[in-house]
Amino acid sequence: MNAPGTLTLPPLSLYIHVPWCVRKCPYCDFNSHAQNGELPEDEYIDALLDDLNHDLNYVQGREILSIFIGGGTPSLLSAKAYEKLFADMQQKLHFASDIEITLEANPGTAEREKFADYFALGINRLSIGVQSFDAGHLQRLGRIHDANDAERAIEFARKAGFKRLNLDIMYGLGEQTPEQAIADLQRAISFEPEHLSWYQLTIEQNTAYYKQPPPIPPEDSIIEMQDAGLAMLAANGLQRYEVSAFAREGEASRHNLNYWRFGDYLGIGAGAHGKITQPLQGRILRMRKRKQPDHYLQAARYSKAQAEKNLVARYPYLADGTPIEKEDLPLEFLLNALRLREGFTVSQYEALTGLPFSDLGKRVESLTHQGLLTADGERITTTERGYQFLNSVLGAFV
Ligand SMILES: C[S@@+](CC[C@H](N)C(=O)[O-])C[C@H]1O[C@@H](n2cnc3c(N)ncnc32)[C@H](O)[C@@H]1O
Ligand code: SF4
Repeated sequence: MNAPGTLTLPPLSLYIHVPWCVRKCPYCDFNSHAQNGELPEDEYIDALLDDLNHDLNYVQGREILSIFIGGGTPSLLSAKAYEKLFADMQQKLHFASDIEITLEANPGTAEREKFADYFALGINRLSIGVQSFDAGHLQRLGRIHDANDAERAIEFARKAGFKRLNLDIMYGLGEQTPEQAIADLQRAISFEPEHLSWYQLTIEQNTAYYKQPPPIPPEDSIIEMQDAGLAMLAANGLQRYEVSAFAREGEASRHNLNYWRFGDYLGIGAGAHGKITQPLQGRILRMRKRKQPDHYLQAARYSKAQAEKNLVARYPYLADGTPIEKEDLPLEFLLNALRLREGFTVSQYEALTGLPFSDLGKRVESLTHQGLLTADGERITTTERGYQFLNSVLGAFV
Protein backbone atom coordinates (compact mmCIF):
# COMPACT_ATOMS: atom_id res chain seq x y z
CA MET A 1 0.00 0.00 0.00
CA ASN A 2 1.03 3.56 -0.68
CA ALA A 3 1.73 5.96 2.15
CA PRO A 4 -0.55 9.00 1.87
CA GLY A 5 1.39 11.84 0.34
CA THR A 6 3.03 9.62 -2.30
CA LEU A 7 1.58 9.62 -5.79
CA THR A 8 1.58 6.46 -7.92
CA LEU A 9 1.92 6.62 -11.70
CA PRO A 10 -1.37 5.26 -13.14
CA PRO A 11 -1.90 3.66 -16.60
CA LEU A 12 -1.68 6.01 -19.59
CA SER A 13 -4.19 6.49 -22.42
CA LEU A 14 -4.13 8.80 -25.43
CA TYR A 15 -7.02 10.97 -26.63
CA ILE A 16 -6.94 12.43 -30.16
CA HIS A 17 -9.44 15.15 -31.08
CA VAL A 18 -10.78 15.82 -34.58
CA PRO A 19 -12.66 19.13 -34.38
CA TRP A 20 -14.78 19.11 -37.54
CA CYS A 21 -18.29 17.92 -38.42
CA VAL A 22 -20.35 18.15 -41.58
CA ARG A 23 -22.80 20.34 -39.66
CA LYS A 24 -23.10 21.46 -36.06
CA CYS A 25 -25.92 19.72 -34.16
CA PRO A 26 -28.07 22.15 -32.15
CA TYR A 27 -27.63 20.29 -28.82
CA CYS A 28 -23.86 19.80 -29.03
CA ASP A 29 -21.29 21.72 -26.98
CA PHE A 30 -18.29 19.61 -27.96
CA ASN A 31 -15.38 21.39 -29.61
CA SER A 32 -16.74 20.73 -33.07
CA HIS A 33 -17.00 23.09 -36.00
CA ALA A 34 -18.96 22.85 -39.22
CA GLN A 35 -16.67 21.88 -42.05
CA ASN A 36 -16.08 24.78 -44.39
CA GLY A 37 -14.62 23.50 -47.66
CA GLU A 38 -12.00 20.80 -47.78
CA LEU A 39 -10.45 19.71 -44.48
CA PRO A 40 -6.74 20.47 -43.99
CA GLU A 41 -6.23 16.77 -43.37
CA ASP A 42 -2.49 16.47 -44.00
CA GLU A 43 -1.71 19.64 -42.10
CA TYR A 44 -3.79 18.48 -39.15
CA ILE A 45 -2.11 15.07 -38.99
CA ASP A 46 1.32 16.76 -39.03
CA ALA A 47 0.13 19.07 -36.26
CA LEU A 48 -1.11 16.13 -34.15
CA LEU A 49 2.26 14.41 -34.49
CA ASP A 50 4.14 17.58 -33.59
CA ASP A 51 1.77 18.11 -30.63
CA LEU A 52 2.52 14.57 -29.46
CA ASN A 53 6.27 15.21 -29.79
CA HIS A 54 5.98 18.07 -27.31
CA ASP A 55 4.15 15.80 -24.86
CA LEU A 56 6.49 12.81 -25.02
CA ASN A 57 8.23 13.56 -21.73
CA TYR A 58 4.90 13.09 -19.95
CA VAL A 59 4.83 9.42 -20.98
CA GLN A 60 7.38 8.61 -18.28
CA GLY A 61 8.20 5.17 -19.64
CA ARG A 62 4.62 3.90 -19.78
CA GLU A 63 2.97 1.90 -22.51
CA ILE A 64 -0.24 3.19 -24.09
CA LEU A 65 -3.25 1.32 -22.73
CA SER A 66 -5.83 2.76 -25.14
CA ILE A 67 -6.37 5.38 -27.83
CA PHE A 68 -9.66 7.18 -28.41
CA ILE A 69 -10.13 9.23 -31.57
CA GLY A 70 -13.07 11.48 -30.76
CA GLY A 71 -14.68 14.58 -32.06
CA GLY A 72 -16.16 16.22 -33.81
CA THR A 73 -16.39 13.57 -36.45
CA PRO A 74 -13.17 11.55 -36.77
CA SER A 75 -14.76 9.45 -39.51
CA LEU A 76 -14.44 12.51 -41.77
CA LEU A 77 -10.71 11.82 -42.06
CA SER A 78 -9.43 9.29 -44.57
CA ALA A 79 -7.80 5.98 -43.67
CA LYS A 80 -4.67 7.32 -45.39
CA ALA A 81 -4.48 10.14 -42.86
CA TYR A 82 -4.72 7.69 -39.96
CA GLU A 83 -2.18 5.42 -41.59
CA LYS A 84 0.40 8.19 -41.39
CA LEU A 85 -0.65 9.06 -37.84
CA PHE A 86 -0.34 5.47 -36.59
CA ALA A 87 2.92 4.74 -38.43
CA ASP A 88 4.54 7.74 -36.77
CA MET A 89 2.95 7.21 -33.34
CA GLN A 90 4.20 3.64 -33.22
CA GLN A 91 7.75 4.92 -33.62
CA LYS A 92 7.36 7.15 -30.59
CA LEU A 93 5.08 5.27 -28.25
CA HIS A 94 4.93 1.78 -26.92
CA PHE A 95 1.44 0.43 -27.62
CA ALA A 96 0.21 -2.23 -25.15
CA SER A 97 -0.05 -5.63 -26.89
CA ASP A 98 -3.83 -5.62 -26.37
CA ILE A 99 -4.28 -1.90 -27.00
CA GLU A 100 -7.88 -0.71 -27.48
CA ILE A 101 -8.20 1.80 -30.32
CA THR A 102 -11.63 3.42 -30.71
CA LEU A 103 -12.80 5.78 -33.42
CA GLU A 104 -16.06 7.77 -33.33
CA ALA A 105 -18.08 7.58 -36.50
CA ASN A 106 -21.12 9.53 -37.64
CA PRO A 107 -23.50 7.35 -39.74
CA GLY A 108 -23.70 10.17 -42.28
CA THR A 109 -20.00 9.64 -43.10
CA ALA A 110 -19.96 5.82 -43.13
CA GLU A 111 -18.35 4.11 -46.12
CA ARG A 112 -17.78 0.38 -46.47
CA GLU A 113 -14.22 0.67 -47.74
CA LYS A 114 -13.20 3.38 -45.29
CA PHE A 115 -14.34 1.27 -42.34
CA ALA A 116 -12.45 -1.77 -43.70
CA ASP A 117 -9.32 0.37 -44.06
CA TYR A 118 -9.68 1.74 -40.52
CA PHE A 119 -9.92 -1.81 -39.21
CA ALA A 120 -6.85 -2.88 -41.19
CA LEU A 121 -4.89 -0.09 -39.50
CA GLY A 122 -5.51 -1.58 -36.06
CA ILE A 123 -8.52 0.52 -35.04
CA ASN A 124 -10.42 -2.22 -33.21
CA ARG A 125 -13.47 -0.48 -31.77
CA LEU A 126 -16.00 1.76 -33.50
CA SER A 127 -18.40 4.08 -31.70
CA ILE A 128 -21.34 5.02 -33.90
CA GLY A 129 -23.42 8.13 -33.12
CA VAL A 130 -26.90 6.79 -33.88
CA GLN A 131 -28.84 9.00 -31.38
CA SER A 132 -32.29 7.79 -32.51
CA PHE A 133 -33.92 5.69 -35.22
CA ASP A 134 -36.96 7.98 -35.42
CA ALA A 135 -37.07 10.17 -38.54
CA GLY A 136 -38.76 13.09 -36.75
CA HIS A 137 -36.34 13.08 -33.83
CA LEU A 138 -33.29 12.73 -36.08
CA GLN A 139 -34.48 15.74 -37.99
CA ARG A 140 -35.12 17.81 -34.86
CA LEU A 141 -31.65 16.84 -33.61
CA GLY A 142 -30.25 18.29 -36.84
CA ARG A 143 -28.58 15.00 -37.72
CA ILE A 144 -27.15 14.54 -41.20
CA HIS A 145 -28.35 10.93 -41.47
CA ASP A 146 -31.50 8.85 -41.27
CA ALA A 147 -32.17 5.49 -39.62
CA ASN A 148 -31.16 3.58 -42.76
CA ASP A 149 -27.77 5.27 -42.77
CA ALA A 150 -27.30 4.19 -39.15
CA GLU A 151 -28.21 0.60 -39.99
CA ARG A 152 -25.85 0.67 -42.95
CA ALA A 153 -23.04 2.04 -40.78
CA ILE A 154 -23.50 -0.84 -38.34
CA GLU A 155 -23.53 -3.34 -41.21
CA PHE A 156 -20.36 -1.83 -42.76
CA ALA A 157 -18.65 -1.94 -39.38
CA ARG A 158 -19.43 -5.62 -38.86
CA LYS A 159 -18.45 -6.52 -42.43
CA ALA A 160 -15.19 -4.62 -41.99
CA GLY A 161 -14.39 -6.93 -39.07
CA PHE A 162 -15.19 -4.78 -36.03
CA LYS A 163 -15.99 -7.10 -33.13
CA ARG A 164 -16.38 -4.26 -30.67
CA LEU A 165 -19.13 -1.76 -31.45
CA ASN A 166 -20.60 1.01 -29.35
CA LEU A 167 -23.84 2.72 -30.29
CA ASP A 168 -24.66 6.18 -28.86
CA ILE A 169 -28.37 6.69 -28.20
CA MET A 170 -29.95 9.74 -26.58
CA TYR A 171 -33.28 9.94 -24.75
CA GLY A 172 -35.41 12.65 -23.22
CA LEU A 173 -35.57 14.34 -26.63
CA GLY A 174 -38.03 17.14 -27.43
CA GLU A 175 -41.58 15.76 -27.43
CA GLN A 176 -40.29 12.20 -27.07
CA THR A 177 -42.70 9.74 -25.47
CA PRO A 178 -41.50 6.88 -23.25
CA GLU A 179 -42.67 4.46 -25.97
CA GLN A 180 -40.48 6.19 -28.55
CA ALA A 181 -37.44 6.24 -26.26
CA ILE A 182 -37.85 2.53 -25.55
CA ALA A 183 -38.38 1.72 -29.23
CA ASP A 184 -35.04 3.43 -30.02
CA LEU A 185 -33.29 1.43 -27.34
CA GLN A 186 -34.90 -1.81 -28.47
CA ARG A 187 -33.81 -1.24 -32.05
CA ALA A 188 -30.26 -0.43 -30.95
CA ILE A 189 -30.14 -3.60 -28.83
CA SER A 190 -31.41 -5.65 -31.78
CA PHE A 191 -28.02 -5.06 -33.52
CA GLU A 192 -26.33 -6.81 -30.58
CA PRO A 193 -23.74 -4.12 -29.87
CA GLU A 194 -21.05 -5.04 -27.34
CA HIS A 195 -21.47 -1.60 -25.78
CA LEU A 196 -24.22 0.98 -25.62
CA SER A 197 -24.01 4.57 -24.37
CA TRP A 198 -27.45 5.81 -23.36
CA TYR A 199 -27.39 9.54 -22.69
CA GLN A 200 -30.15 11.72 -21.35
CA LEU A 201 -30.28 14.87 -23.49
CA THR A 202 -28.84 17.80 -21.57
CA ILE A 203 -29.30 21.41 -22.61
CA GLU A 204 -25.83 22.91 -22.69
CA GLN A 205 -24.86 26.57 -22.73
CA ASN A 206 -23.54 27.92 -26.02
CA THR A 207 -25.76 25.66 -28.10
CA ALA A 208 -28.70 26.46 -30.35
CA TYR A 209 -30.92 24.38 -28.01
CA TYR A 210 -29.95 26.66 -25.10
CA LYS A 211 -31.31 29.68 -26.94
CA GLN A 212 -34.34 27.81 -28.18
CA PRO A 213 -34.92 24.72 -26.04
CA PRO A 214 -37.02 21.88 -27.40
CA PRO A 215 -40.09 20.81 -25.37
CA ILE A 216 -38.33 18.37 -23.01
CA PRO A 217 -40.58 15.58 -21.69
CA PRO A 218 -41.88 16.02 -18.12
CA GLU A 219 -39.97 14.47 -15.20
CA ASP A 220 -42.39 11.54 -14.80
CA SER A 221 -41.93 10.58 -18.48
CA ILE A 222 -38.15 10.71 -18.06
CA ILE A 223 -38.40 8.44 -15.01
CA GLU A 224 -40.62 6.07 -16.97
CA MET A 225 -38.02 5.97 -19.78
CA GLN A 226 -35.24 5.30 -17.30
CA ASP A 227 -37.04 2.54 -15.43
CA ALA A 228 -38.08 0.71 -18.58
CA GLY A 229 -34.77 1.35 -20.37
CA LEU A 230 -32.56 0.15 -17.52
CA ALA A 231 -34.64 -3.01 -17.17
CA MET A 232 -34.43 -3.68 -20.91
CA LEU A 233 -30.67 -3.15 -21.07
CA ALA A 234 -30.10 -5.50 -18.12
CA ALA A 235 -32.44 -8.14 -19.56
CA ASN A 236 -30.38 -8.07 -22.76
CA GLY A 237 -27.03 -8.64 -21.06
CA LEU A 238 -25.87 -5.02 -21.24
CA GLN A 239 -24.61 -4.32 -17.72
CA ARG A 240 -24.53 -0.78 -16.46
CA TYR A 241 -20.94 -0.09 -15.37
CA GLU A 242 -21.16 3.71 -15.38
CA VAL A 243 -24.09 6.17 -15.25
CA SER A 244 -24.61 6.14 -19.05
CA ALA A 245 -22.44 3.20 -20.17
CA PHE A 246 -23.64 -0.36 -20.65
CA ALA A 247 -21.58 -3.33 -21.81
CA ARG A 248 -21.55 -7.06 -22.24
CA GLU A 249 -19.17 -9.01 -19.98
CA GLY A 250 -15.60 -7.85 -20.64
CA GLU A 251 -16.68 -5.21 -23.17
CA ALA A 252 -16.48 -2.04 -21.07
CA SER A 253 -14.52 0.73 -22.77
CA ARG A 254 -11.00 0.45 -21.35
CA HIS A 255 -10.33 4.02 -22.39
CA ASN A 256 -13.28 5.49 -20.53
CA LEU A 257 -12.64 3.20 -17.56
CA ASN A 258 -9.15 4.67 -17.34
CA TYR A 259 -10.65 8.20 -17.15
CA TRP A 260 -13.14 7.19 -14.49
CA ARG A 261 -10.49 5.32 -12.49
CA PHE A 262 -8.44 8.54 -12.42
CA GLY A 263 -5.84 7.17 -14.81
CA ASP A 264 -3.60 9.45 -16.86
CA TYR A 265 -4.13 10.52 -20.45
CA LEU A 266 -2.43 12.64 -23.02
CA GLY A 267 -4.73 14.75 -25.17
CA ILE A 268 -3.61 15.87 -28.61
CA GLY A 269 -5.58 17.92 -31.11
CA ALA A 270 -7.61 21.14 -30.94
CA GLY A 271 -9.05 21.64 -27.44
CA ALA A 272 -7.92 18.20 -26.23
CA HIS A 273 -7.56 17.74 -22.48
CA GLY A 274 -4.86 15.75 -20.72
CA LYS A 275 -4.16 14.66 -17.15
CA ILE A 276 -0.67 13.68 -16.11
CA THR A 277 0.63 12.53 -12.73
CA GLN A 278 4.15 13.61 -11.84
CA PRO A 279 5.12 11.63 -8.72
CA LEU A 280 8.56 13.23 -8.41
CA GLN A 281 7.07 16.73 -8.37
CA GLY A 282 4.20 15.49 -6.19
CA ARG A 283 1.56 16.92 -8.49
CA ILE A 284 -1.08 16.11 -11.09
CA LEU A 285 -1.18 18.33 -14.16
CA ARG A 286 -4.26 19.22 -16.18
CA MET A 287 -3.55 20.28 -19.74
CA ARG A 288 -5.69 21.83 -22.42
CA LYS A 289 -4.67 22.44 -26.01
CA ARG A 290 -5.62 25.47 -28.14
CA LYS A 291 -9.30 25.12 -28.85
CA GLN A 292 -9.99 26.82 -32.18
CA PRO A 293 -8.82 24.67 -35.10
CA ASP A 294 -7.35 27.79 -36.74
CA HIS A 295 -5.33 28.70 -33.64
CA TYR A 296 -4.19 25.11 -33.28
CA LEU A 297 -2.99 25.03 -36.88
CA GLN A 298 -1.29 28.42 -36.42
CA ALA A 299 0.63 26.92 -33.51
CA ALA A 300 1.72 24.10 -35.82
CA ARG A 301 3.00 26.59 -38.40
CA TYR A 302 4.89 28.50 -35.73
CA SER A 303 6.41 25.29 -34.38
CA LYS A 304 7.48 24.27 -37.88
CA ALA A 305 9.02 27.67 -38.59
CA GLN A 306 11.01 27.48 -35.34
CA ALA A 307 12.18 23.96 -36.15
CA GLU A 308 13.42 25.18 -39.53
CA LYS A 309 15.59 27.68 -37.61
CA ASN A 310 16.78 24.82 -35.37
CA LEU A 311 14.82 26.29 -32.48
CA VAL A 312 12.29 24.45 -30.33
CA ALA A 313 8.95 26.16 -29.75
CA ARG A 314 7.96 25.79 -26.08
CA TYR A 315 4.64 23.98 -25.86
CA PRO A 316 3.08 25.85 -28.81
CA TYR A 317 -0.18 23.88 -28.62
CA LEU A 318 -0.81 24.33 -24.92
CA ALA A 319 -3.57 26.76 -23.87
CA ASP A 320 -3.34 25.82 -20.21
CA GLY A 321 -1.25 23.47 -18.11
CA THR A 322 -1.71 23.75 -14.36
CA PRO A 323 -1.37 21.41 -11.39
CA ILE A 324 -4.66 20.47 -9.75
CA GLU A 325 -4.94 22.26 -6.40
CA LYS A 326 -4.70 19.85 -3.46
CA GLU A 327 -8.10 20.96 -2.16
CA ASP A 328 -9.71 20.18 -5.53
CA LEU A 329 -8.25 16.68 -5.80
CA PRO A 330 -10.85 14.78 -3.71
CA LEU A 331 -13.75 16.11 -5.79
CA GLU A 332 -11.88 15.56 -9.07
CA PHE A 333 -11.27 11.95 -8.09
CA LEU A 334 -14.82 11.35 -6.83
CA LEU A 335 -16.50 13.02 -9.83
CA ASN A 336 -15.05 10.15 -11.83
CA ALA A 337 -14.95 7.23 -9.41
CA LEU A 338 -18.50 7.56 -8.09
CA ARG A 339 -19.91 7.34 -11.62
CA LEU A 340 -18.56 3.79 -11.78
CA ARG A 341 -20.54 0.80 -10.61
CA GLU A 342 -17.30 -0.67 -9.18
CA GLY A 343 -16.67 2.52 -7.17
CA PHE A 344 -13.15 2.74 -5.76
CA THR A 345 -10.97 1.46 -2.95
CA VAL A 346 -9.30 3.36 -0.15
CA SER A 347 -5.87 2.32 -1.50
CA GLN A 348 -6.74 3.54 -5.02
CA TYR A 349 -7.82 6.88 -3.59
CA GLU A 350 -4.62 7.30 -1.58
CA ALA A 351 -2.28 6.14 -4.37
CA LEU A 352 -3.87 8.30 -7.08
CA THR A 353 -4.49 11.50 -5.12
CA GLY A 354 -1.64 11.23 -2.60
CA LEU A 355 -4.16 12.25 0.09
CA PRO A 356 -5.29 10.37 3.22
CA PHE A 357 -8.75 8.83 2.86
CA SER A 358 -9.48 9.68 6.50
CA ASP A 359 -10.14 13.29 5.32
CA LEU A 360 -13.30 12.03 3.60
CA GLY A 361 -14.34 9.64 6.38
CA LYS A 362 -17.13 11.70 7.95
CA ARG A 363 -18.81 12.58 4.67
CA VAL A 364 -18.64 9.02 3.37
CA GLU A 365 -20.13 7.83 6.65
CA SER A 366 -22.99 10.29 6.43
CA LEU A 367 -23.80 9.37 2.80
CA THR A 368 -23.65 5.69 3.76
CA HIS A 369 -26.22 6.32 6.50
CA GLN A 370 -28.45 8.01 3.94
CA GLY A 371 -28.24 4.92 1.74
CA LEU A 372 -26.45 6.78 -1.07
CA LEU A 373 -23.07 5.02 -0.75
CA THR A 374 -21.93 1.65 0.56
CA ALA A 375 -18.59 1.31 2.32
CA ASP A 376 -17.32 -2.13 3.31
CA GLY A 377 -14.07 -0.92 4.85
CA GLU A 378 -11.92 -0.95 1.72
CA ARG A 379 -14.36 -0.40 -1.20
CA ILE A 380 -16.79 2.50 -1.59
CA THR A 381 -19.58 2.31 -4.16
CA THR A 382 -22.58 4.38 -5.17
CA THR A 383 -25.90 2.64 -4.43
CA GLU A 384 -28.82 2.50 -6.87
CA ARG A 385 -30.38 5.39 -4.92
CA GLY A 386 -27.06 7.24 -4.99
CA TYR A 387 -27.05 6.97 -8.79
CA GLN A 388 -30.46 8.64 -8.86
CA PHE A 389 -29.16 11.51 -6.74
CA LEU A 390 -25.58 11.59 -8.00
CA ASN A 391 -25.42 15.38 -8.00
CA SER A 392 -26.32 15.52 -4.29
CA VAL A 393 -23.77 12.79 -3.55
CA LEU A 394 -21.02 14.72 -5.32
CA GLY A 395 -22.29 17.98 -3.81
CA ALA A 396 -21.39 16.61 -0.35
CA PHE A 397 -17.71 16.75 -1.34
CA VAL A 398 -17.67 20.28 -2.77
C1 LIG B 1 -18.63 13.53 -29.89
S1 LIG B 1 -20.20 12.84 -30.06
C2 LIG B 1 -20.05 11.34 -31.04
C3 LIG B 1 -19.66 11.17 -32.48
C4 LIG B 1 -20.24 11.97 -33.59
N1 LIG B 1 -19.82 13.32 -33.45
C5 LIG B 1 -21.74 11.90 -33.71
O1 LIG B 1 -22.41 12.75 -33.14
O2 LIG B 1 -22.22 11.02 -34.40
C6 LIG B 1 -20.48 12.00 -28.54
C7 LIG B 1 -21.90 11.67 -28.15
O3 LIG B 1 -22.32 12.51 -27.08
C8 LIG B 1 -23.73 12.54 -27.05
N2 LIG B 1 -24.14 13.93 -26.82
C9 LIG B 1 -23.68 15.03 -27.44
N3 LIG B 1 -24.29 16.13 -26.94
C10 LIG B 1 -25.18 15.72 -26.01
C11 LIG B 1 -26.11 16.38 -25.15
N4 LIG B 1 -26.27 17.68 -25.18
N5 LIG B 1 -26.85 15.60 -24.31
C12 LIG B 1 -26.69 14.26 -24.27
N6 LIG B 1 -25.82 13.60 -25.05
C13 LIG B 1 -25.07 14.30 -25.92
C14 LIG B 1 -24.22 12.01 -28.38
O4 LIG B 1 -24.84 10.76 -28.17
C15 LIG B 1 -22.95 11.86 -29.18
O5 LIG B 1 -22.99 10.75 -30.04
S1 SF4 C 1 -21.89 15.29 -35.18
FE1 SF4 C 1 -21.36 14.80 -33.03
S2 SF4 C 1 -19.68 16.19 -32.47
FE2 SF4 C 1 -20.57 16.92 -34.40
S3 SF4 C 1 -21.98 18.50 -33.79
FE3 SF4 C 1 -23.14 16.58 -33.93
S4 SF4 C 1 -23.05 15.62 -31.86
FE4 SF4 C 1 -21.51 17.26 -31.96
